[in-house]
Amino acid sequence: MRRKIVAGNWKMHGSNAQNRDLLSALRAGSVSLGCEVLVCPPYPYLAQVADALEGTAIVCGAQNLSQHLEGAFTGEVSAAMLADLGCRYVIIGHSERRTLFGESDAVLVAKFVAARQAGLCPIFCLGESLAQRQAGKTLEVVFEQLNSLLQVVGVEGLVDAVLAYEPVWAIGTGLSATPEEAQEVHAALRGMLSALDVDVAAALRILYGGSVKAGNAQELFVQPDIDGGLIGGASLVAQDFLAICRAAN
Ligand code: PGA
Repeated sequence: MRRKIVAGNWKMHGSNAQNRDLLSALRAGSVSLGCEVLVCPPYPYLAQVADALEGTAIVCGAQNLSQHLEGAFTGEVSAAMLADLGCRYVIIGHSERRTLFGESDAVLVAKFVAARQAGLCPIFCLGESLAQRQAGKTLEVVFEQLNSLLQVVGVEGLVDAVLAYEPVWAIGTGLSATPEEAQEVHAALRGMLSALDVDVAAALRILYGGSVKAGNAQELFVQPDIDGGLIGGASLVAQDFLAICRAAN
C-alpha cells in the first residue's frame, strides 16, 4: 500500500510575514493528516519553514538544487546545504525549470544524483506540452523524460524516489487533466517501470500536478495509480491546501 503524498510548491511567492500566517494555519491544521505532507518554499525561507513546522507531521522540501556538490558556483545551493537546513525532499525538473531556465535532461539527472548523495528524496517531474498532447505524443514524451533518468540511475535508482506527472498545459491554468487522463499516464509510467522491476514499480509514488484544487483533489487521488499531488497555487492558501491533504486520506 503506497502512502499518499501532498507536496506544496510555493514557487516564488511569500515573505516573512505572509509565511508566518500560512505556517501557523498549517501547524494548527496538521494534527490529523493521514498522508505525508511537505511544503517547498523559496530557498531564503527554508529555515523559517523548517523551524515553524518542527514537531508537526509536515516536512520541508526545496524547489531546486545545484547539480554540483560544492565550489565556485555563484548563486547555487547544494544538496548538502538543503539537507543541513532540514529539507527531506527536493523537486527536480519542474516544467518551469525545464522551459524557463533551459534545464536539460542531462542536468536534471545530475541533480537527481546529487540529491540522492545528500540523502534527499527527489520528486522528479515529467510532463508534455499542449502541442505534444494534441499531436498524440504524451506517452512518448514522458517515457523519454523518464528514460533519460533510467539510463543513468537504473530502475533501482527509483527506490524511495517520487515521480510527479505534471502536464505543462495544466500548470497554473485552472485546467486540470481529468482523472481519467491523468490515470492513463500514471498507469503507463508504472507499466513501463513494471517491465523493468515489478516491485520497484509497485512501490513507487507517482504524484499528479497541474491545477489540483480542493474541489478536484479527491477524484484525482482515488485513481489507482495516483499517489498524491504536487500543488502550486492552492498550496498558498492554508485552508485549500489542508483540504487537499484531507482528500488524500
Ligand atoms: P498549479 O501548479 O497547482 O498552480 O497548477 C502545480 C505545479 O506547478 O507544481
